[in-house]
Amino acid sequence: MAIYEINGGTPLMGTVTISGAKNAAVAILPAALLVKGSCRIENVPDISDVRILLSILESMGAKLDQPEPGVVIIDCTEMHETEPNPALVRKLRASYYFMGALLGRFGRSHVALPGGCSFASRPIDQHIKGFKALGAAVTETDEYVEMEPCAEGLRGNRVSLDVVSVGATVNIMLAAVLLPGQTIIENAAKEPHIVDLANFLNTMGAHISGAGTDTVKIRGVEELQGGYYAIIPDQIEAGTYMAAAVATGGDVMVKNVIPKHMDCITSKLAEMGAEVTNYDDCIRIRSTGKLSCATVKTRPYPGFPTDMQAQICVCMALASGISRLTESVYETRFFGYCTELESMGAEIHIEGKTAMVVGKDGLHGATVRARDLRAGAALVIAGLSAEGTTRVENIHYVERGYERLIEKLTALGAKIRRVED
Ligand code: UD1
Repeated sequence: MAIYEINGGTPLMGTVTISGAKNAAVAILPAALLVKGSCRIENVPDISDVRILLSILESMGAKLDQPEPGVVIIDCTEMHETEPNPALVRKLRASYYFMGALLGRFGRSHVALPGGCSFASRPIDQHIKGFKALGAAVTETDEYVEMEPCAEGLRGNRVSLDVVSVGATVNIMLAAVLLPGQTIIENAAKEPHIVDLANFLNTMGAHISGAGTDTVKIRGVEELQGGYYAIIPDQIEAGTYMAAAVATGGDVMVKNVIPKHMDCITSKLAEMGAEVTNYDDCIRIRSTGKLSCATVKTRPYPGFPTDMQAQICVCMALASGISRLTESVYETRFFGYCTELESMGAEIHIEGKTAMVVGKDGLHGATVRARDLRAGAALVIAGLSAEGTTRVENIHYVERGYERLIEKLTALGAKIRRVED
């Protein structure tokens, strides 16, 4: 198994270009199966989650072409399959978007329960509630979710989510775009990738309004046709490089970002003492010395993202004073990395949903194990900031979500290599 070997202690300096957003790409690629015609999608990140989704689409009859890096041309016109390969589906979380997309296109689907990062119990009851409201008869087993139209057939409807869920909002949008009537999703998630999915579908002929607010309205259309779309930059990848710049005492220009999407992250890093300068589509982040402690609570967008919890925890571990980090989306997320950070010299006390992080003057290298994607990213940041050598194991998690990580970090001066163990 490959590992990352990091010789830390070098401030990151230079420019990094952010790739297309993982969480938008993993919604937009399954959405392409709703389209009759060819979709040219640009800014597609080359990460393992995307590669698996493309394999699933291809195995179901999609015609794929990747004429240049970051560009995928997908034509699902001839697709007839309603059961994606279960072994591939179990490899990632976002494969649950095939449930909504297949229901929307064919009126039926048979999809294995998804895999992916298991940092918490991740129920899909709100997805199922939405599908049922749209008229699906749903059969759930321990391994599959099977859907077909109920006796009255599928049609648009009002769905009020009990919890703000990115996945359920996306899945209901996918299921609803081609149904007769209007669907209204209340208490919808507002993340940038929800807006990106709506923009993609609208570009292909859908009628979706309100994406980015808590009420998304979808007026069903008979058909979507092909077109061109470019995916937004990855908010979390950008946030990860910013946290790495700050944790290593560096100075980095982060290019290809939407600064507005970054406000929830940059405001906290600025509060901790980093100097942040926003430009049109890039942000410069510069360390100004020792970080200050902070209080952070994760929340759905536009709050501080749970997917940045672990990375900011590393900054807190290096700040002066005691920081307070509260997780309100996935309570058990601390267990994916806090023990590993402690083996590098961090001091973290977890009390329920809150971690009290006692800042130290520095961390030291150790052999640590990634337990999920963002936990792995945090261990890489910790390794970059630490004195000595850090070995990060289980890096397949990290490779699910960060395109050309080694190349980008090396260009910033990091001493990191991927080693076959
Ligand atoms: C998505 C992101 C993930 C991010 C998370 C929260 C993708 C592919 N993944 O995951 O990176 O960490 O949003 O921003 O976009 N919940 C239920 N029932 C449901 C669905 C969710 O109770 O049916 C709960 C979850 O347990 C969690 C909260 O709602 O506490 C938010 O989950 P959700 O937004 O659905 O996360 P994901 O879509 O799985």
